Order: sequence, then C-alpha cells, then structure tokens
Amino acid sequence: MEVIEVQTRSRNYPVYIGQGILNNPALWSQLVNGRRLLIVSNEIVAPLYLDTLCKALPAGGQHEQLILPDGEEYKTIDQWMRVSDKLADMKAGRDACIIALGGGVIGDLAGFAAASWMRGIDIIQVPTTLLAQVDASVGGKTAINHVAGKNLLGAFHQPRAVIIDCETLNTLPTREYRAGLAEVIKYGAIGDSNFFNWLEQQADSLNARLPESILQAVITSVNAKADVVAADELEQGQRALLNFGHTFAHAIETATEYKLWLHGEAVAIGMILAARLGTQLGLDTGEAEQRLTRLCAALGLPGAESQLPPAGELIEHMRLDKKNLGGQYRFILLKTLGQAFIHTEITDADLSAVLTG
Ligand code: NAD
Ligand code: GLY
Repeated sequence: MEVIEVQTRSRNYPVYIGQGILNNPALWSQLVNGRRLLIVSNEIVAPLYLDTLCKALPAGGQHEQLILPDGEEYKTIDQWMRVSDKLADMKAGRDACIIALGGGVIGDLAGFAAASWMRGIDIIQVPTTLLAQVDASVGGKTAINHVAGKNLLGAFHQPRAVIIDCETLNTLPTREYRAGLAEVIKYGAIGDSNFFNWLEQQADSLNARLPESILQAVITSVNAKADVVAADELEQGQRALLNFGHTFAHAIETATEYKLWLHGEAVAIGMILAARLGTQLGLDTGEAEQRLTRLCAALGLPGAESQLPPAGELIEHMRLDKKNLGGQYRFILLKTLGQAFIHTEITDADLSAVLTG
C-alpha cells in the first residue's frame, strides 16, 4: 500500500492507495476506532461496496448509513439537508466522522455536510471512480449545486484521510473510467512531461485496465495533486493550473446542459482546444495539441473534431468563468507539454479562431 501525505495549512492527512484496501480492518481501526460514524453512499455504489466496508470497520463500532439517489442532479441542498438531518438524528457531536463512499458527487456532497455540521467534523473520503480518486477526493474542495449554477455552495474542508482502493474501479463503467483518464492526462500535460510520455506508452495497458498501470497512474496523479494543494490550498495562485482545459470544458458542459458529455470527456476536448489556443498565440509549435489529440483518441476520449455548440454560445459561457478577473479571461495554457501557466491576455477573437479552426 502506498501512502502519500498531503500537507496543507489547515491539516495534514494521508492518502492510502492500493488494491483491496477497503477491506483492511487494521487501517480502519487506526483511523476510526471509537468514533461515531455515518457512511454516506449512493444506490449504485452501496450494493457493491458497503458490505465490505462495514465488515472492515471496528467490530461493535456504531455506524449509521445513509444511501442517497445516484447522479449529479442530486448534489443538492435537499440531499445535503438529508445528511444533516441524519447527523441530527444520531445526535452527532464534533467527534463524529463521515465516511463518503462513492464518486465525486457523494464526496463533494458528504464533504460539504461534514464542513458545515457544527462548523466542521471529520470526513474520510473513499472514492470509487477514477475521477474522484485522482482529483475530487484530494484537496478539500467540497460543494453542492445551487439552481444558479454548479458547485456554488461550498467550502474548503480537508479530509481526515483518503482511502483509494483501485480494485473498486473493476465495476466502473468504461465511459466513466475513460472520463477519469482525462484528469490523469491533465497532470502530465500541466506539470510532468515524463508522466505524459509514460501515459502514451501505457495506452494499451490502461485500455486493458491492467491493475499495475492503473495503480501507477493513480499514485502519480495523487502525488501531483498533493503538491499543488500543498503549495496553494485555497486556490490563490498555482492551484488554478489544475483547471487546464476546464474553461472550454465548463462552457461545453453548460451549453449542452450537462447531457451530452461527461465532465472528463469535456475536459479532453477542452485540453486540446487550450493547447490549440497556445499554438495560435505562438507559444508552442503545435506539438502539444497533436500529442494531446493522439493520446485522448488512444484512450477512447473525444477530441476537438467533436460536434460542438456554436462558438458564440461557448464564448458567452466563458465570459462568466469563475477564474476571470476584472472582466479579463484567465486561461491555463501550455508553454510546452508539462509546463502550464496562467495567461490573461486572451480576446474573443482568439477564442473564436480556436473554436472555428
Ligand atoms: P459520480 O460521482 O456521479 O460517479 C459517476 C457514476 O459512477 C455514478 O453513477 C456513480 O454512482 C457510479 N459509480 C461510482 N463508483 C462506482 C464503481 N466503483 N462502480 C460502478 N459505478 C460506480 O461522478 P464523478 O465523475 O466521480 O464525479 C463528478 C463530481 O465530482 C462532480 O459533481 C464534480 O463537480 C465533482 N468534482 C469535484 C472535485 C473536487 O475537487 N472536489 C474535482 C473534480 C470533480
Ligand atoms: N479539481 C480542481 C481542484 O481541486 O482544484
């Protein structure tokens, strides 16, 4: 089992990564012995893994469960209230601990419930999608959606620990798995060209879901995320680099009402468009766009050839991007593969050229 220590101003915590580690009574005992526990999961993940988790928890421990409906449309105030009501029923005090068992939706929602209950109780993240393992579970961003937009109600609340059992990915649908790979590619593109090269070489193994390749991809990704979060926990600078491809992606997702593309798929398209924008601005020779296009295709992800909403509509959405400051776009671009930076001098004409190019 690999252990990565995430170090932030508000808290240091371990991320345990391995195969079959959900079923590790010694680990659970060390983390939660004697605690009041609330396991929050959903109706897809609970039948698969709740039993294994419960059996691994300290015998005789008091654990309650709350199983929520599945889907982004349930990352709502109503479901957050259900978690809070459950904590109230349990008479949960500051020493209670939530275990979030599921993908990023459950992790974000249970995380926000933990952040807000009594101004903050512990949460242990047990991510079961690739996207949640390499991104959402690490770094302390928690949120629910508001009718006015995605993730508008949220808090930074670092977990007490993260337990990543890569074996849980065996049941993950292929499309969800591939969407998670987009975030893995992102770490190579923004900060680690050796990792990008490795991903290119491992495409067949990753497609075949070879456990050793997945484990290595997850460990490298979590290390990358831990480094960024340690340097900038509250996203005042460098953490924004993790949004490479995301400005285009969010615009694509919003314009298609989150119905056409999974987040990771939109990120794949967004990364390629962002690389193209860099080339167009004379930052690189076009190599980044070509290699990103090839790698995304090799891993079954869509690319910039996809049928996208009209450029004007996407630009309208990008004008509202949360990263913009003082009416200026803030794009994450590549100097070269493995080296990202924040660029603030982008015009609508630049974006239009990229989207119609
Ligand atoms: P998700 O949680 O909806 O999971 C995708 C689907 O896979 C769901 O149907 C889920 O029930 C199912 N599933 C989960 N684990 C499974 C397993 N092991 N086997 C079979 N099915 C399984 O989606 P996601 O992609 O994990 O997360 C997306 C969410 O994460 C979004 O709400 C996004 O805003 C959030 N997010 C948060 C951060 C952060 O830093 N906090 C970062 C990225 C994304
Ligand atoms: N998912 C981006 C971040 O954690 O900052």
